[in-house]
Amino acid sequence: MTTTVITHIGELVTNAPDAHDLLGTIRDAALVVDGTTVAWVGAAVDAPDADQMVDAGGRALLPGFVDSHSHLVFAGDRGEEFAARMAGRPYAAGGIRTTVAATQAATDEQLTSHVARLVAEMRRQGTTTLEIKSGYGLTVQDEARSLAVARQFTEETTFLGAHVVPDGTTPEEYVALVTGPMLEACAPHARWIDAFCEVGAFDEDQARAVLVAGRAAGLKGRLHANQLGEGPGVRLGVELGLTAVDHCTHLSDADVAALADSGTIATLLPGVEFSTRQPYPDARALLDAGVRVALATDCNPGSCFTSSIPLCIALAVREMGMTPAEALHAATATAAAALERSDVGRLVPGARADLVMLDAPSHLHLAYRPGVPLVAGTWVGGRPV
Ligand code: NIG
Ligand code: FE
Repeated sequence: MTTTVITHIGELVTNAPDAHDLLGTIRDAALVVDGTTVAWVGAAVDAPDADQMVDAGGRALLPGFVDSHSHLVFAGDRGEEFAARMAGRPYAAGGIRTTVAATQAATDEQLTSHVARLVAEMRRQGTTTLEIKSGYGLTVQDEARSLAVARQFTEETTFLGAHVVPDGTTPEEYVALVTGPMLEACAPHARWIDAFCEVGAFDEDQARAVLVAGRAAGLKGRLHANQLGEGPGVRLGVELGLTAVDHCTHLSDADVAALADSGTIATLLPGVEFSTRQPYPDARALLDAGVRVALATDCNPGSCFTSSIPLCIALAVREMGMTPAEALHAATATAAAALERSDVGRLVPGARADLVMLDAPSHLHLAYRPGVPLVAGTWVGGRPV
């Protein structure tokens, strides 16, 4: 196996769990890749010999970003809906049906090439692990093929048949379909199950029924919760011991306390608030209460069409009270935990060699230089992508 030493790293972020600072930062560092994994990290002066050498020239090297929440399998465009929103119309979950119609009409090849384009866009911005949901099919066949398409790009696939109730069916009939034949067809292609627990989508009992059925079929649960208003979602997620509840925009004190007492991660998606002109969630209050916070994009054609984790980090720092270190940790180590992954999100011996080199001396520049394409190189499993 070929070994490569990356040396003259101005700042290496390891996210080592036992480090003196949150990010496990090492200055003037080196990192050795052996095949697909990290073999060694430390001070450049102590670096062992390797077959190849890459000179980072003082730039920062970070763990690849982990985007634990995206909806990339879709067709169509909702730019007009975005423009109307910027002119004052509020965001409503009903726009999902527009994308469902376009997705059902698309061929498998069209869906696959569209996902490929978005995944390439993410890679260029430093994302090395991503989760992809279904949820724009809403028939047995269209949900199953959405997940089969997603599986070509990631192991972290999520069955979101319970995204919205399609026209022409009752909520009761649709939940029976989602928890029955649709789940059966989708489970082989999915690792996770999700539901949109919100007024206008699925209520607490319906979301619980979906998550419990998914668990019985071997899927792990996550939930869209408290996005458009306060509601039962976060507490349901905690009650069911879910790995993560996502959005968490509108939280009561009881929701924050329930999260703090649980192992459930709150995934914040600030691109959504940016793109829907909603108030941002209070990340500071969550962190101060002891809640584990992850950051992800939610990349989707309706509420947030960004694929950029660097943008989300900048928003989290500017708008949600996170420090640059907390925001980066949330988009790497904690986002990995939100996918129950210990092989990614950190650069320690044995981890997958998923690396981002910034054209900047430190991670601070992700928030300090918003909108600037700072990612100079991305490696997945030791290979440049
Ligand atoms: O995560 N909240 C539900 N689903 C997506 C939005 C879907 C859409 O508007 O197309 C979200 O924001
Ligand atoms: Fe989402």
